[in-house]
Amino acid sequence: MCGIVGYIGHPEKTIDVLLKGLERLEYRGYDSAGIAYFKDGQINVLKKAGKLNCLEEIVDRNMLTEIGIGHTRWATHGEANEINAHPHKYGKIVAVHNGIIENMDELKKELEDKGKKFISDTDTEVFVAFLNDALEKYQDMKQAMEYTMKRVKGSYAIVCFHEDDLEHLYIMKKDSPLLIGVGKGEMYVASDYQAFREFTNQYVLLDDFEYGIIDKNAWHVYKDGKVVEKKIEVLDEQDSLSNKEGYDCYMHKEIYDIPNVLTNLFTFYEENDTHSVPDYRKYNKIQIVACGSAYHAGCIGKSLFAHFAQFPVEIEYASEYRYQPILADQNTLVIFVSQSGETADTIHCAKKIKEMQIDSLAIVNVYNSTLSRLTDYVYYMRAGEERAVATTKGYSSQVALFIIILREWMKARNTWTASLEQQYQEGKTKMLQAMEPCLKKFEHFSWIKKLIDKPANFFIGRQSDYALSMEASLKLKEVSYLNSSAYAAGELKHGTISLVEEKTPVFAIATDKNTYEKTKSNLMEVKARGAYVILTTLDTAEEEKEVDERMIVPDVGALFQPIITIIPFQLLSYQVAKALQLDIDHPRNLAKSVTVE
Ligand code: AGP
Repeated sequence: MCGIVGYIGHPEKTIDVLLKGLERLEYRGYDSAGIAYFKDGQINVLKKAGKLNCLEEIVDRNMLTEIGIGHTRWATHGEANEINAHPHKYGKIVAVHNGIIENMDELKKELEDKGKKFISDTDTEVFVAFLNDALEKYQDMKQAMEYTMKRVKGSYAIVCFHEDDLEHLYIMKKDSPLLIGVGKGEMYVASDYQAFREFTNQYVLLDDFEYGIIDKNAWHVYKDGKVVEKKIEVLDEQDSLSNKEGYDCYMHKEIYDIPNVLTNLFTFYEENDTHSVPDYRKYNKIQIVACGSAYHAGCIGKSLFAHFAQFPVEIEYASEYRYQPILADQNTLVIFVSQSGETADTIHCAKKIKEMQIDSLAIVNVYNSTLSRLTDYVYYMRAGEERAVATTKGYSSQVALFIIILREWMKARNTWTASLEQQYQEGKTKMLQAMEPCLKKFEHFSWIKKLIDKPANFFIGRQSDYALSMEASLKLKEVSYLNSSAYAAGELKHGTISLVEEKTPVFAIATDKNTYEKTKSNLMEVKARGAYVILTTLDTAEEEKEVDERMIVPDVGALFQPIITIIPFQLLSYQVAKALQLDIDHPRNLAKSVTVE
């Protein structure tokens, strides 16, 4: 979603830092961009709807200016046009903002009653106007920030500066990430360290309700009027910068990263028994909370725990969990799954669980992300930077971590037998060996055109194959915009089968040996109604003659099967989007990290 970058320091660097920072944040998804800087005795604001290249066309990269802020906006209040784009200037203050101001109407009314006028539809303009008003009252920026933070409700990461004060950047944070990048004779601010990591590896993380004043040589963070001592963090080497490495897009490249990511992940957790692990013996309940693909990875986790540990796991979308009674206690372990570690709904639930002093564990990719700091135990996904909005290697490493956690859980409870260990070692070796051939095999699908002009595509499966169907369907729709949905195979006949007509594509995933015959019956039901059936099954299964297409995946055993089975669907989605000439890495309307509710 929205991205923030700010800089104070060397005049010849400012514009370059802002534009490079915004480029690094592009992966998050946005629909307009802008910068503000000081030049010729005044604040200048340049902004454009559309992609960053539209903004870059109007910016002079050689411009000298000692202070600047930049923003990529994912529209919430008001459409994605130039007026609503950030930065917003009101009075003498110019600001960029991530988050949502919930009491915008009340604050706006208060300001309008004082005669203030607004030109945009945004909550950000109201925030800046309110801050400007407070500054006129207090004549002191620190007090103005304190007052504003007391009055404003909602989420915000704000970076601003003042026309008469070019020596300071002012920052405020609640429920939306904000970091200070520490340099020498220069300072950075960003919503994500990717924005400044090319320039410095040292940073300070702000916590909620903190605000700061930054000059080029120093930074000061406050809360409730008092100085807060903050630790300088150093970027972890696992968070290396990623590039396309010759692939046509990040999604394609990231699918090809999967074998290495998984090899390293399993080795890391097998060899590193010093990572902090809960006492798995004490729990009588597990709840998994996540959104989107992370939720689908959680569904695989639930199925693994049911089949191998005979342990019931509850799973909920974070957006639902946050509004329901929390049926958990001190013997419950709540597992949060999130690639970014910044997803607003998931973070909200993690805060609630922390307040209730219930044990929590995060499966998360981004080091030092909000989720990783809110939870008691962290299993890092170690997938490296994921830039495509559609997750691929992130999802695969989340599933892999559920296998790792299942093994540790069962070992702790003395239920991990020698035969399970053998299944694990053999399955893992088979799966890792099968990865590269599998990637090559599914690089091309001759029947893609048969999906493209259809009103709907369906994915069906049972148990973990149903979880895979949900992820396969989401992947297809998010990058190709084809209408697709997933159903538990047995559910189709309870209503949805009415949508199946001549040539409707139905993907049946049937890798689970226990339910293979049942799913086969369901695909025969749709075949009888004219569906175009694409069956995904194991290379050890009997050849199924009644279907139109087959996607045969190597049989790597029940523990690891979900990891290999998703690969053809990730590649299929990429291929369909490519055939449709879409922006594969930045699908319309989507954001990589969903930081609003
Ligand atoms: C996946 O391709 C999606 N982009 C989306 O569903 C994503 O998984 C979801 O928004 C959760 O994100 P998170 O893992 O960063 O919390």
